[in-house]
Amino acid sequence: MEQLTTVDAWRRYCADARARGAVVGLVPTMGALHAGHASLVDTAKRECDVVVVTIFVNPRQFNDPDDLRKYPRPLEDDLARCRELGVDAVVTPSMEEMWPAYPAATATTVTVAGVSEGLEGAGRPGHFDGVASVVAKLLIVTGPSRAYFGEKDFQQLAVVRQMVADLALDVTVVGCPIVREASGLALSSRNVRLDAAAHERALGFSRALAAVHDGVARTADDMRAVLRDVLEDAGIDVAYAEVVDPTTLRPLGAGDEGVARVLLAGFVDGVRLLDNGELRVIATKGATSVAGH
Ligand code: PAF
Repeated sequence: MEQLTTVDAWRRYCADARARGAVVGLVPTMGALHAGHASLVDTAKRECDVVVVTIFVNPRQFNDPDDLRKYPRPLEDDLARCRELGVDAVVTPSMEEMWPAYPAATATTVTVAGVSEGLEGAGRPGHFDGVASVVAKLLIVTGPSRAYFGEKDFQQLAVVRQMVADLALDVTVVGCPIVREASGLALSSRNVRLDAAAHERALGFSRALAAVHDGVARTADDMRAVLRDVLEDAGIDVAYAEVVDPTTLRPLGAGDEGVARVLLAGFVDGVRLLDNGELRVIATKGATSVAGH
């Protein structure tokens, strides 16, 4: 496995692979790799000839300095994991390579209007500008490729898809399903910050998703209320509990039908966690009944 630390070496590595006729697969990460990342790498390995993982904790997407400070950075473990997974190259760029002006602001920012504005965007000002700016750079340096993102960060995936379409980047964005512990908790690098009691409370997220999959006809607002009740009963400080259109991320109203997405976010012991799930809804005279998932 190669470890690349400069933009030049990384760009050349990907260009050389394509010159040999290889399809390049990119798995962008902030490290602290877990089974969710491993599933992205496995999918990339099945679909591509050369798999490149980037590990860069991007300060521009953290609106809370404490969250950035506490973000886990187990680099040696991450490199060992990539080796075990059969990754071809890991890119670990320095801050100078990615954001030379940091901590001063970088002159160029990518903003994706619409899909980035509500939900995480509303609660974390600047977060998606930071995500879109770094992902644009990762995709531009990597060049034509397939890029793999987890559905756990569902809004991030929608923002990246919109940006790639708007900028006509030569990249196929692939969304991969959420990986869960046996307990139901969605895997996240932030889970290491949960003690046993907080972990127990965090199970409220998967319980809330199960609660709206019970086949009972409800209005979209009733669904939101059920989700919020389950989360609050579990002791989660709810940021939002939404039922949205999966492409525009606009809140569902009574009368909407088809595939929808439940998006949940909240704090457990000060740790911000997300979860989401697909929902098929049928409009029934103002109520929205669940048809399956
Ligand atoms: O999902 C993540 O780990 C990050 O937001 C990403 C896509 C690597 C950008 O920093």
